Amino acid sequence: MKGLLLAGGHGTRLRPLTYTGNKHMLPIANKPMLLYGLEHLKNAGINEVGIILGPIKEGVVETIGDGSKFDLKVTYIDQPDPLGLAHAVKVSRDFILDEPFVMYLGDNLLKQGVADFVEIFTKNKLDCVIGVSPVKDPSRFGIAELDEKTGGIIRLVEKPREPKSNLALIGVYTFNSSIFDAVNRIKPSWRNELEITDAIQILVNDGRKVEVERVSGWWKDTGKPEDLLEANQLVLSDLKGSINGEISEKATVTGNLGLGLGSRIKEGVNIRGPAIIGDNCQIGPNVYIGPYTSIGEDCIVKDVEIENSIVMKGSRIENNKRIVDSLIGAYSTILSAESIRPRGYKLVIGERSFAQI
Ligand code: DAU
Repeated sequence: MKGLLLAGGHGTRLRPLTYTGNKHMLPIANKPMLLYGLEHLKNAGINEVGIILGPIKEGVVETIGDGSKFDLKVTYIDQPDPLGLAHAVKVSRDFILDEPFVMYLGDNLLKQGVADFVEIFTKNKLDCVIGVSPVKDPSRFGIAELDEKTGGIIRLVEKPREPKSNLALIGVYTFNSSIFDAVNRIKPSWRNELEITDAIQILVNDGRKVEVERVSGWWKDTGKPEDLLEANQLVLSDLKGSINGEISEKATVTGNLGLGLGSRIKEGVNIRGPAIIGDNCQIGPNVYIGPYTSIGEDCIVKDVEIENSIVMKGSRIENNKRIVDSLIGAYSTILSAESIRPRGYKLVIGERSFAQI
């Protein structure tokens, strides 16, 4: 069994954070999003992973390399244009050969990982297993319509205008090599993409054994900025506290905190977890860090309240304000200006931005 991890595309919906790097390297609880998928594939017993890369490659190869530090063999597969998920399968043929494989969309996070899908696929000798989960907004996703009596798949529809089901495809698919014939038989959709839903529909129509499997834990597609914050909350909810830095006796920490090596929490700082702070950060004085906050490595945070936010590496925040629900790109600087009401600003700031608020 091989893994196919998708990290192509332009990441347009996450601009400006993705102007200077691959969106799959944006941090969720201080870890690049793509590494969650990579680890899930590894935990399912997979040792060989192909990573699909599009025009924006920055950060991926530097972080993952040949995969050896994750005890994996990683091959990079070029997909110059994001012509669709089925196109990503097509360009992977030389890597996959005739082995079964798990395709994992790199912008998805799921708590349970993918081992259950692999197990069902192998045990029941299936041609395809699709992970699904009920959603409130089915028109944003690929949707599976099931037969009420048998539970079998009737139809798969990509982003339907009038959805007949709320069961969304979550971005994890297990295939055998029958999918290669199917992706060669489909035509581009109305949005000019080769849709994997159309290819799986061919498997269903051909009478292949295709099943859906509902995810048990949480699942999050991180397409939009607010999704990143929600994914951050979900991952931090499961955080186990681990303190590798220094905390002043005159600081207060409640709830779970991850504190990196060489980081210092100064006197008077109040932290309410779950929160994570990377290596070599200086936090304080006069700082409140509220629940669901992630602060990347090498940050300086002074005179500020910050809650439910992601602050990426190398940033400096000193501004006497209350920052909430914000995404602050790497190497940003936020300093104080005169006070503005109401307090509690919402920010989406790209890498190396500067704001005075
Ligand atoms: O999040 C689950 C949804 O993901 C499914 O319900 C949909 O059926 C599926 O089409 C997909 O929809 P998205 O609109 O979220 O797809 P997106 O274009 O964002 O691409 C998903 C991931 O795959 C993302 O990590 C980028 C990567 N990708 C995408 C395309 C189209 C590639 O690597 N190559 C591609 O050609």
